[in-house]
Parts: sequence; structure tokens; C-alpha cells
Amino acid sequence: MGFIVKAGIIGLLLSLGASYYIYSKISEIPETPVLDEVWWGKGSPGKEDTAIKPFKIDISKDILDDLKHRLNNALPFQPPLEGAKQHYGMNSNLLSNIVDYWKNTYNWTERQKFLNQYPQYTTSIQGLNIHYIHVKPTIPKSSNVKVLPLLIIHGWPGSVREFYEIIPLLTTPQKGRNFVFEVIAPSLPGYGFSEATNKPGLSATRMAQIFKNLMKRIGYEKYYIQGGDWGALIVSLMSLLYPENVLGAHSNMCVCDSNICHLKNFLVGTMYPSLVATEEEMPHYAPVPSKMAYLILESGYMHIQSTKPDTVGTALRDSPVGLAAYIIEKFTTWTNPAWKDLEDGGLTKRYTMDQLLDNVMIYWVTRSITTSQRLYSEMFNKEVFSQKLQEIPVTVPTGCARFSHDITVHPESLLRHKYHNLVHLSLYEDGGHFAALELPKVLAEDIYETVEKII
Ligand SMILES: *[C@@H]1O[C@H](CO)[C@@H](O)[C@H](O)[C@H]1NC(C)=O
Repeated sequence: MGFIVKAGIIGLLLSLGASYYIYSKISEIPETPVLDEVWWGKGSPGKEDTAIKPFKIDISKDILDDLKHRLNNALPFQPPLEGAKQHYGMNSNLLSNIVDYWKNTYNWTERQKFLNQYPQYTTSIQGLNIHYIHVKPTIPKSSNVKVLPLLIIHGWPGSVREFYEIIPLLTTPQKGRNFVFEVIAPSLPGYGFSEATNKPGLSATRMAQIFKNLMKRIGYEKYYIQGGDWGALIVSLMSLLYPENVLGAHSNMCVCDSNICHLKNFLVGTMYPSLVATEEEMPHYAPVPSKMAYLILESGYMHIQSTKPDTVGTALRDSPVGLAAYIIEKFTTWTNPAWKDLEDGGLTKRYTMDQLLDNVMIYWVTRSITTSQRLYSEMFNKEVFSQKLQEIPVTVPTGCARFSHDITVHPESLLRHKYHNLVHLSLYEDGGHFAALELPKVLAEDIYETVEKII
């Protein structure tokens, strides 16, 4: 055998060995950690008041008068560039209309009554006062309809307001179904009416632990869970960390973020996308160059919030107009990227001004924008990096509803790496990131279908 051939064979064997080594390193599944119980409240751990207290939103006149003053004294807006719609961020003509509505039509007395229509409670979990909505269904005594506890979790820049339309759908018995839900919808710690921590480290992983403890406090050891945005991540973390408590999970933002998925995306997906995504999934698949550009376009906020949330938070905390622009902008392009080209950002196609402003008000009156943004920074803390939870598959039965206009829509072939018990998967042509608020009927039906396959 000639030298060249021998060298070739040795080279081939070496590179096969190296590839195998790299692959096995990359696909290593870390141990699932057992989290210690951190006291997130002020000072050192104290005795926890385990009472569950009824809660009503009741915003002081001082806060409302101050808001009015700030809205009335906002500086005139910078006019948009000629012909620009939402191409440079929130268009100030649109913002001006929103602020006019806020000042002249939006009626907090009525909205507060609306927001108080469901029973709400607070209770202290690991030192933090956690707020949640808890709605039980009304079913006739003689009926054999089963009531299943369902925890639903919101994200950023959302709030429990996203769930006001879907709650009655989930808690009203459906024709032809022998189960219905009892809904528990908490505000994330540091969001809206849930207390924020003053201690570093409260990541989504730690929120998963807080919500597990919240469910236990309410009296549930076993339950179903659902979420979008941060809520989706928390759902998948709860499934990983507490599989004995989670009977089934549903998410409207399922993602696979493991090494294998990244490898598959970049090695296979960029060259042979059809090996990763089906024809139906292809328009939403990230390695398609236009989709990559879109992800960059829509994720600047994330870079800021993951690194220096307190800086931008200062401005947003001080200016209701700035806060509205920052939050409502997300409801244009995250609902549909094409709405960037519309004068009104497409908002009126899907939302009422009251819905959008209720959500902004929850951030404003609770002064919670900075603390909400810190969650992004906590995703990049040492604990999260060392745990590598994204590498651990979820074995709890899971349903994934994918909405075409969401920021990221993962193909089934990737999701199967993460969700080993994917019992339900759908892809809707309509709908974006805020599915619960946009298409409550579609999302509710998807949750019912998933749970039907699990029970
Ligand atoms: C707001 O709504 C309340 C309750 O419906 C009503 O009494 C009040 O007059 C309204 N305020 C304005 C400014 O329209």
C-alpha cells in the first residue's frame, strides 16, 4: 500500500474518531439538578406567612394623578421619517393616537373593575409576595365533568392581562368533553402585582421552583401547565425539574435550544433545510436567510435587557409614553412581521386599545418594568450556564401549538430532540406571539386537544 493511501486511511480514522468524540461530548445529557430553596425576600430568611390572601387591584389617586400629569406634559414626539411606518421602531403618529386614547378615552375606573372580575390572591413563596388569578369552573353537581388544575404562565412584555379572554373558555365545560380546567394564572415575580426580589439570581429556572411551590401552597401536587414566551420556558423547566408534579404540559413557544439542535440547524439546516423542516414548516424556519435577518431585527431589546436592564429601565420607569412605545411596539411586529409596513402597526386588526393599555398600565402602576427586564439578565447568570438545562430532554407529555407569525417557529424534527413525549403538535397559519390574547379560542382548543390525549 502506498504511503498516500496509508496516510489517507489513518486520516480518515482519526477524523471519524474525532467526530465521534465531539458528537458524544455535544450530546452529553447533564444531571438534572436539585435546587435548594432560596429566600428571595428582603433580608435573611424569615418565617414564611403561608396565608392565602384575597387581592383586588386598587390603584391610589396619587399614582393616577401623577400619570395624568406625565401624559399631559410629555414632550412633543419626534415626527417619523417621511414614508416610514414601523420601520424605525414605534411610529410616533401611531404612538400619538395611542396616547390620545389613553388620556381621553381610557377609563381606569372601568378598566380596574374589568381587571378585578376574577378572584385574585397573593401568598408568600420563598419570601416573595406572589399574585395570581384563580378561577374555578361552575359545573352542575350531577355532572361527571372532571376538573383539572391548570397553571398558565405569561411572559414579557405581557402580564396576566393576556389571559382574560381565554380564562372563561378554559373554565367553561365544553360540549363533548368530560373535563374542564380550574385556572391558576400567576404574575411572574417582579412583574405586575407579584413582588420583585432584591437579590441576584432569580432566573426562569428559579421561577419554575417558585411556581411549583405556589401550586403546592394552593393545594395541588399534580397539575397541567401552559405558557408562552417566558411562560413557555418556565413550562419546559417545570417539566424537567418536577416531572412528578406535572401531569402534562402545553406551550405556544416550543423550542429546542440544545447543542444537537444548534448543530443540526447550522450544519444540516443551512445547506439542506428540507432535511430539517417540512414544506409546511419551511417558511418559518430560521436558517432561511430572510428569517435570520428577521430574528436580528426583532431581538435588539433582548441584548439590552440581557446585559444592562437597569439603564433602559430607568427611562421607561419615568415615562409612561416611553413605556407604551416600548411595550406596544412588540404587539405590532411580534403579532405579524408584515405589520411593520402598516401605518397603525396592524394593532386594530387584532387588539383593542383597552387591551393594550391595560397591559401597559399593569407595568406602569406597579413600577415593574425594570424588574421585569432583569429576568433576561438572569438567563445569563453562572447558575444557568452551569446547569445546561437546555440539554436535558422533557419526558412529560407535551403539546406544542405553533403560530406562524411568532418570532420563532421550530420544525418538528428539532422539537422531537427536546420533547421526547410530544403528544400534540399543530401549526396555525394565523396568529403570532401573543396567542392567548390574539386567538383565545384557537389556543384554548389546542390545550383541550392536548390534555385529551394525555388523560
Ligand atoms: C369612567 O367610568 C366610570 C364608571 O363607569 C364613570 O362613572 C366615569 O364618569 C367615567 N369617567 C370618565 C372621565 O368618563
